[in-house]
Amino acid sequence: MPEHDVAALSDIPDGLSKVEAGDRAMLLVRQGDDVRAFTHECPHLGLPLSKGVLRDGTVICPFHHACFDAATGQQAEPPGHGDLARFAVALRDGRVLVDVPDGIDPHPLPDTATPGPDARRMVVVGAGAAAHACVAALREEGFDGAIEMIAPNGPPLDRTMLSKAVLTGGKQVEDLTLRPTIKGLNVVHVEDRVTAVSEGRLTLASGGTRAFDGLLVAPGGLPRGLDLPGEDLPGIYRLRDGDQATALAEAAEGASRAVVIGGGFIGLEAALSLSKRGVKVTLATREALPLARIVGEEIARLILSEVKEAGIHHTPRTEARLFHGTDRVTAVELKDGGRTETDLVLVAVGVSPATAGIEGLPLDDDGGVSVGPDLSVPGLAGVHVAGDCASTPTPFGPARIEHWRVACQHGKRAARAMLGHRADPADIPFFWTALARQYRYLGHATDWDEIRIDGDPSGPFMARYVKEGQVIAALTAGRDADLADLHLQMRAAGGPVPA
Ligand SMILES: Cc1cc2nc3c(=O)[nH]c(=O)nc-3n(C[C@H](O)[C@H](O)[C@H](O)COP(=O)(O)OP(=O)(O)OC[C@H]3O[C@@H](n4cnc5c(N)ncnc54)[C@H](O)[C@@H]3O)c2cc1C
Ligand code: FES
Repeated sequence: MPEHDVAALSDIPDGLSKVEAGDRAMLLVRQGDDVRAFTHECPHLGLPLSKGVLRDGTVICPFHHACFDAATGQQAEPPGHGDLARFAVALRDGRVLVDVPDGIDPHPLPDTATPGPDARRMVVVGAGAAAHACVAALREEGFDGAIEMIAPNGPPLDRTMLSKAVLTGGKQVEDLTLRPTIKGLNVVHVEDRVTAVSEGRLTLASGGTRAFDGLLVAPGGLPRGLDLPGEDLPGIYRLRDGDQATALAEAAEGASRAVVIGGGFIGLEAALSLSKRGVKVTLATREALPLARIVGEEIARLILSEVKEAGIHHTPRTEARLFHGTDRVTAVELKDGGRTETDLVLVAVGVSPATAGIEGLPLDDDGGVSVGPDLSVPGLAGVHVAGDCASTPTPFGPARIEHWRVACQHGKRAARAMLGHRADPADIPFFWTALARQYRYLGHATDWDEIRIDGDPSGPFMARYVKEGQVIAALTAGRDADLADLHLQMRAAGGPVPA
């Protein structure tokens, strides 16, 4: 077992640091004379955990806020799956020595996929963030019975990359398969759609029904359309799944001009990605200032100026009227009479919960489903709803939040509930977006009394959204560790913290 002398103890700071042990980077967690060594790369995207924060026995990754137990390396919060391998540490003569066994798995997963005696049948509808987290958590919790994943597509993939690495051409959809694979989890994929749900039974689009002991429904969202003449012309795209992303990326290959309709995060990310590969992009938004409702006017102005600096032409207060073209779209005509010639169009005007085709779910006015803290659907025993469709209790009141990490957490909590375990308390919502810079957002603010900005927003900064003397949300660029630290503070407080 090769032992590596990695540093003098006096050179190791309290908290998190990085050392090299042979050709392997190590995360050291030091609290006084207690030094522990773990895998340095986060199991989510492999980014460096030494840039994170240690607080109250938790290590938080600063990039997308996966959390780990600082004593054991066990993953406590998503995104990503896998614990941090822990390496034996010895302190001798003021030196720190770490044992690095050959062939160690840097991100071990619980070995629980062997079929066992549990006769219960768990069914998961969807192959997205919530569904994948749910089946992984069912196995992590030791469930050894049958699990079926019913979805028209598969395998589960990292959807967040579609508007980023796939559109820039840096990655193919095949590169985005989520770990652990459903084969590795011994989950049977049924290629179908679910059309109705009732207690203990569901109906499939292909005909027939299926019984279950526990059910998670996580069908995500469907991109909205504009319902305009010409909208079904080839060359007009939406962006939700792998096929749509591949088709759009292929079209971008030969395109010189694109129109992106919609100023939400996906519209902006896609516009920037298309622009990066040399396409001249017009961003048409109904709002004068995209994102102002979410981040406030000052930050929204900053984000827009960065988008424009990247070469994107913005047309504010714009609504499309119809699409021109015979075999393929050639132009977008606007309500004000303007016309923009184009080789392709992306319609990115938001998503609706994909619940419309599933009978039996009690739908809210917006098509979501209001569930309890354990994601269970009131009045439908054994049925849970998670992810973009679920309106859940949060530390900021009930909310339906359409973000990756939240969906993963839902899936994990639903798995515990399906197995009859206690519901974990809801964590603080968090999301990231890759615009001209990486922006990260914590909490949930629909309105606020003031926004306190710390730092010059054109450089690293943190904006705190304050209501009634409490920080209810924060947005950062270039201040990842500060936001991660605030996350752990809000988590410990169970919600907002004093401003
Ligand atoms: C392009 C893009 C970029 C994004 N970037 C970010 C980001 O940077 N940060 C962030 O926090 N969030 C991001 N998101 C949002 C994030 O991906 C979603 O919040 C998350 O995927 C929601 O997970 P979900 O499980 O609810 O649904 P999904 O991941 O959408 O999965 C839904 C699954 O259900 C299946 N399904 C639908 N209807 C049925 C049915 N009737 N029967 C069976 N199966 C069905 C679908 O085919 C799919 O497999 C992005 C989303 C997109 C589209
Ligand atoms: S790289 Fe750590 S959470 Fe994404």
